[in-house]
Amino acid sequence: KSQPPLVWHWIPFLGSAPAYGRDPIAFFRDCREKYGNVFTFILLGRRVTVTLGPQGNDFVLGGKHTQLAAEPVYGPLTTPIFGKDVVYDCPNEKLMEQKKFVKVSLTIDKFRAYVGMIDDEVKDYLNTDPSFKVYQMDDINEWGTFPVLKAFSEITILSASRTLQGREIRESLTKEYAQVYSDLDHGFTPLHWMIPGLPLPSYRRRDAAHTKMSSFYQSILRKRRENPSENQEEDVMNSLMKQRYRDGKQLPDHEIAHILIALLMAGQHTSSSSLAWAVLHVAARADIQEALYKEQVQHFGTPDGGLRDFGYDEIRDLNILDAVVRETLRLHPPIHSIMRKANVDIPVPATLGTPSEDSVFVVPKGDIVLASPLISQVDPGVWDNSESWEPTRWYDEKGVAAKANKEYNEGEKIDFGFGLVSKGTVSPYLPFGAGRHRCIGEQFAYLQISTVISSLVRRMEFRYEGTFPAPDYSSMMVQPVPCQIHYRRRRF
Ligand code: HEM
Repeated sequence: KSQPPLVWHWIPFLGSAPAYGRDPIAFFRDCREKYGNVFTFILLGRRVTVTLGPQGNDFVLGGKHTQLAAEPVYGPLTTPIFGKDVVYDCPNEKLMEQKKFVKVSLTIDKFRAYVGMIDDEVKDYLNTDPSFKVYQMDDINEWGTFPVLKAFSEITILSASRTLQGREIRESLTKEYAQVYSDLDHGFTPLHWMIPGLPLPSYRRRDAAHTKMSSFYQSILRKRRENPSENQEEDVMNSLMKQRYRDGKQLPDHEIAHILIALLMAGQHTSSSSLAWAVLHVAARADIQEALYKEQVQHFGTPDGGLRDFGYDEIRDLNILDAVVRETLRLHPPIHSIMRKANVDIPVPATLGTPSEDSVFVVPKGDIVLASPLISQVDPGVWDNSESWEPTRWYDEKGVAAKANKEYNEGEKIDFGFGLVSKGTVSPYLPFGAGRHRCIGEQFAYLQISTVISSLVRRMEFRYEGTFPAPDYSSMMVQPVPCQIHYRRRRF
């Protein structure tokens, strides 16, 4: 049995790193045209076998963890940031238990409390951040601009820490720990991933920041244990303190600390880049912006022309808002490459598009395998107008029900409530992954992103001028290149 075709390249060790790094999507499309849905490329001396399309997604995401492991691929990036004994620095069975512990603390009851907290964070941010100076003035006709990446990364970290991380962490963010977060964050880059342990200042600062953060969390844990009656917060830390592994052991403090750091990092870039794309599109599409605002008025309008606060159960009913988030995650899923390492030789299923009926590829042991749900999420064979941001594809003329796309309508029944219920690992739409490594933050992310958008569109109008910003693939998550959005205060 043969190996998948090798993508042609000039320089042996470098391989296709420049093309993949510059624009992975163009690179994958180009390779698919030349080699089909399965091919191997060289990335800094490593062999990476890509399997595209819904079946390719299934091959990687539905693989047995004994055969396709995430830890050896992601560990070098994440362990120095998250810390020891969690996520990819422990056996997969332990990660599954840790994910279950976190899920327990991401319940609907907690979400109900979170909506108000996130709305408050947005309000405070608009009232205090210098980028929103015009918002803070009385003249509602004045237009200002704000920098997209900065605003959404700050709103994301403030709202995620207020809700998930607990009071002490939220308070520390505006004080001495802002720099520590930033140093840790600067260790979350493709360079730190591909070449671990370089003697550079960013690596040293990352490691120092991890040590400081970990001890800070652990000192909070000790205080909470000493004064249990004072600390009854409904946050993830308290919930983790009550959990036990299957063998009856409690989570040691350093593991609780490291799980919290992992959650902060896992949710930060994913949610903030999704928010940035969503609001940019809304700013560039007056009709959708108007529809979003009308939806707010229809559901929350008060007799005096104002808008009342909204709750978790209520924003779940906002179909246009839901479609805006869903469509943004289709076109801009923050994670473009999902990877595992092959522990054994693995045959590629023939349905994946092998060149002829009788030749089946084998991915050799040691290869990294890679799925890119983004490719199937913009496949013109599945989606009408696949390259355009069109939230209307997810609802009908009356603003209800999802007409979605051909595949889904013909497939199984899908829950179009909060968060798309995945149909398993064979799907063209997988922004949150699938299988055992599937995201546990999906419901929280939907809640966070939807709440921030609601908070913003009810208070401001947006406008985007000029060429729509291109995706920047040089950071870990696909975010827009630096850009500004125009805003003006509404009479609210
Ligand atoms: C895993 C996407 C937000 C925590 C994943 C995976 C994807 C993903 C694609 C699978 C990775 C893989 O299979 O290799 C997203 C997107 C988000 C988001 C698009 C927001 C728009 C969050 C948030 C949290 C979170 C807010 C935490 C509160 C996790 C965790 C995993 C995960 C713990 C599991 C990793 C594993 O089992 O290997 N996410 N995520 N994510 N995500 Fe998210």
